[in-house]
Amino acid sequence: MDLFEQLKCETESCMLCNLSKTRTHVVFGEGNRNAKIMCIGEGPGYYEDQLGRPFVGKSGELLDKILGVCGFNRLEHVFIANIVKCRPPENRDPLPEERTLCIPYLYKQIEIIDPKIIVLLGATALKGLIDPEAKITKLRGEWLDWNNRLVMPTFHPSALLRNEQLKRPVWEDFKKVVAKYRELVNPDHPSAYC
Ligand code: URA
Repeated sequence: MDLFEQLKCETESCMLCNLSKTRTHVVFGEGNRNAKIMCIGEGPGYYEDQLGRPFVGKSGELLDKILGVCGFNRLEHVFIANIVKCRPPENRDPLPEERTLCIPYLYKQIEIIDPKIIVLLGATALKGLIDPEAKITKLRGEWLDWNNRLVMPTFHPSALLRNEQLKRPVWEDFKKVVAKYRELVNPDHPSAYC
């Protein structure tokens, strides 16, 4: 078993917090384990918990669409993970203690996958990885540094589903991701227009 598989097994048998008592499945994440881009969301919702896969509900559909417009797909270009790996009951925000106990799994995922670009989807991802006081409305669209990795915070797809006006800024943010991907990973990747 390699490090990635070991970590997946360890995560899937985790009982560190109370979310383990109510979950159906641990949602470790999915995508290309050698991806140069990692997308990080908040935590599993109902459908993710049922299926054990990240972003499979309505916001997942939208995320796939956004990635598609950028010429990316989850099998080839990205690995998708979450701040917490188990669904908080009633889709409430993960508690600070749950985040603290779960975040080491994400740190290890980042270390093993070794992405060049991390896209933080929404406030919980931004607060969880960068700073609990950070504001998504202030920091979105700006490249941040996290342990020598480039981080682009943007709005969560579920925020876009609630507010159409966020589509334009998210598109602007993903255009920056595509440009950086072309610069750092593959100059032949199609550039994002419009
Ligand atoms: N929202 C998230 O933040 N993560 C998922 O996996 C699904 C919905």
